[in-house]
Amino acid sequence: MALRRRVLLQRLLIGAAVLTAAMNLNATQAAFATLRSTLGMTQFSSVQLQHVPQRAGHGLVQRGPCACGLAAGIVCCALTRGCRVPWPAVRTRLCAVGDSVAAGTAMKLFSPAKINLFLRIIRRREDGYHDLASLFHTVAFGDELQLEVLPEGAEKDELKCNLPGVPVDESNLVIRALNLFREKSGVKRHFGIKLEKSIPAQAGMGGGSSNAATAFFGANALCGNPASPQELLEWGDDPVIGSDATFFLSEGTAYCTGRGEIVTPVDALKIRPDLGIYLVKPAYGISTPACFKAMDLKSLSSVDPEDLLKTFQDKGTSHDSWVNDLERPAFQVNPNLGELKTFLASKELGFEAVLMSGSGSTIYCVGDPQGGAANFEAATKERFDIEGIWKTQLMRRPSPSEWYSQV
Ligand code: C5P
Repeated sequence: MALRRRVLLQRLLIGAAVLTAAMNLNATQAAFATLRSTLGMTQFSSVQLQHVPQRAGHGLVQRGPCACGLAAGIVCCALTRGCRVPWPAVRTRLCAVGDSVAAGTAMKLFSPAKINLFLRIIRRREDGYHDLASLFHTVAFGDELQLEVLPEGAEKDELKCNLPGVPVDESNLVIRALNLFREKSGVKRHFGIKLEKSIPAQAGMGGGSSNAATAFFGANALCGNPASPQELLEWGDDPVIGSDATFFLSEGTAYCTGRGEIVTPVDALKIRPDLGIYLVKPAYGISTPACFKAMDLKSLSSVDPEDLLKTFQDKGTSHDSWVNDLERPAFQVNPNLGELKTFLASKELGFEAVLMSGSGSTIYCVGDPQGGAANFEAATKERFDIEGIWKTQLMRRPSPSEWYSQV
């Protein structure tokens, strides 16, 4: 740790210890909020933290101010003596008391959809998956997830969803993500989850994976941030929560390889802030396994994905390099989807680019249609059986410590 940062931390902790001893009240919480922020650990934003009962147990508050003062003192001593403090271990200690978080502590989080700005399939692997290389980006369209800590002794998570037909048992990625969080953190608490779905299923927009990542982030934040943003990315790298979930733990623009779980963060693209993205979802979905099964590995594009990435980094979306290797197999699974893309890409509509997202069935259109949005929507719905058309924008997390918020 840089010397200046260490000295600053030392002073803050001394202040925290003194405050704790002197005031014997919620200074403990303030002290540990300071500690978390100094260590670069995930922050609550006032918008996201919906309800924190008095004396809620973020950090050590329920173990009493003495323990906090003592802990702060020990860390101070270690710093003063120039010892290396094992930060992950410190965080894990803090997390162990995440179990003492007050029941009823809750958060409401936005759970965004994603699109793939390009998607190349590289090879079939021995485990049945395919290595891919894709530029993922989150958009301002998505679901809403409320997470509440259940009383101690609750033995399972309770998931409620506004959409009938969405499984609310262990097969739901949200429950799997919470199981994974408990396994990785050692926290034993369970959660009540209310999921308001807007992202359709089988749409190629990563709805389930986004919900899983959002629950993962929320559980970590509610339990006092046992994992840093970087550690959360590492904890989330588990096929049990789907190939795309790790991406949502990035800042919202990422070059993803492997199954999709190797996430390389990419800086914000150079795009104009009002760039329109129209998500067009036909009434039918495309099953991801069916799409991969229909794929002919010999007829994929040959463009180097690193070149594609450079093009997007240099030119934003103003170019002609739009590739999704899964389009052809998806159009084979449902030829109507190919017809929809041909219509959306027609000169008369005048979009800058039109591409299928992921394994479909959503087709997104970049820019704005000639003749206006209302005419475009009416013309599309007249010709095709459409579940929804949503105008949205590319969006990112404000910082690695804050979650996505809807614009
Ligand atoms: O990981 P996820 O559950 O999203 O994948 C669903 C299915 O899609 C997998 O069982 C596999 O058949 C296929 N898939 C693949 N290669 C990937 C991602 C998914 O073959 N990189």
